Amino acid sequence: MSLDFSTKIGTSRFNNPIFTASGCASSGKELSQFFDLKDLGAMVTKSIMLKPRLGRATPRMAETPSGMLNSIGLQGPGIDTFLENDLAWLHERSVRTIVSIAGETVEEFGQLARRLRSEGQRSGISAIEVNISCPNVENRGQVFACHTDTAAAVIENVRRNLAGEFPIVAKLTPDVTDIVSIAKSVIDAGADGLSLINTLLGMVIDTNTMRPKLAGKTGGLSGPAIRPIAVRAIYQVHQSFPNIPIVGMGGVSSGKDAFELILAGASAVSIGTASFGNPTAVMKVKDELANILQEKGFTDFRLAIGQAHKS
Ligand code: SIN
Repeated sequence: MSLDFSTKIGTSRFNNPIFTASGCASSGKELSQFFDLKDLGAMVTKSIMLKPRLGRATPRMAETPSGMLNSIGLQGPGIDTFLENDLAWLHERSVRTIVSIAGETVEEFGQLARRLRSEGQRSGISAIEVNISCPNVENRGQVFACHTDTAAAVIENVRRNLAGEFPIVAKLTPDVTDIVSIAKSVIDAGADGLSLINTLLGMVIDTNTMRPKLAGKTGGLSGPAIRPIAVRAIYQVHQSFPNIPIVGMGGVSSGKDAFELILAGASAVSIGTASFGNPTAVMKVKDELANILQEKGFTDFRLAIGQAHKS
């Protein structure tokens, strides 16, 4: 039985719904040793900022039960080097690419959007992920996705500066009282889709040294431990906004895990932490998901989206 495995976010179409998660595969050069990046639905790049950035002090990763804590602090080469080295490399290889951006201020997000717009369609960009939810910033006031007004202000500025050149995907945090109201604010401000969920703010203390394990003290929790939270957030948001595509992520390491997020309402699924242990995890999830869909009798992937909402 043949399967139409394609999916859509705004005006962009993807051959399959399995993406990398931002920050877990840089710009793909390392993963390209293991499989052809063209086989991805999309490569979602590490959130890039205007200027080069070293990130937080080390240690900045720690293991947790069924998960991992990171406090990278948005390390990156800055937009100019990214465009010249990373995006150009991906484009040469015809990899569908979603560029993730992060800023310290609303204006910085707007500047990044303007810079990407000037690259235009020749850049091979399929969409822009606007990361307004990084937990590893010095100041919690910079987690724009924790408040409806700041979340909307960023997306509105990005929308104005992109002027419709690429679809906008807003990346939200589950570390809020009501994720549906945050989703509403960014959709009203012009987001075409949502990435759900970013990591949750956590902390690990070394009982030998009696000090936090991470130099930055707190970090973002990812991995299987957070999957039920991702499923809940996706379900709640899809229930309120069934026509808004969601890129689901959070502890997915098998086709069955991905299928769970899709049943909750995800139109695509990103693989993050699982790639650290198994660089071919993304391809494994893709093949397993295709098999599950066919076993369940689906001929079109999109008919599976949000099935858990049906009575
Ligand atoms: C980081 O670079 O600290 C992680 C980014 C994120 O979780 O958004």
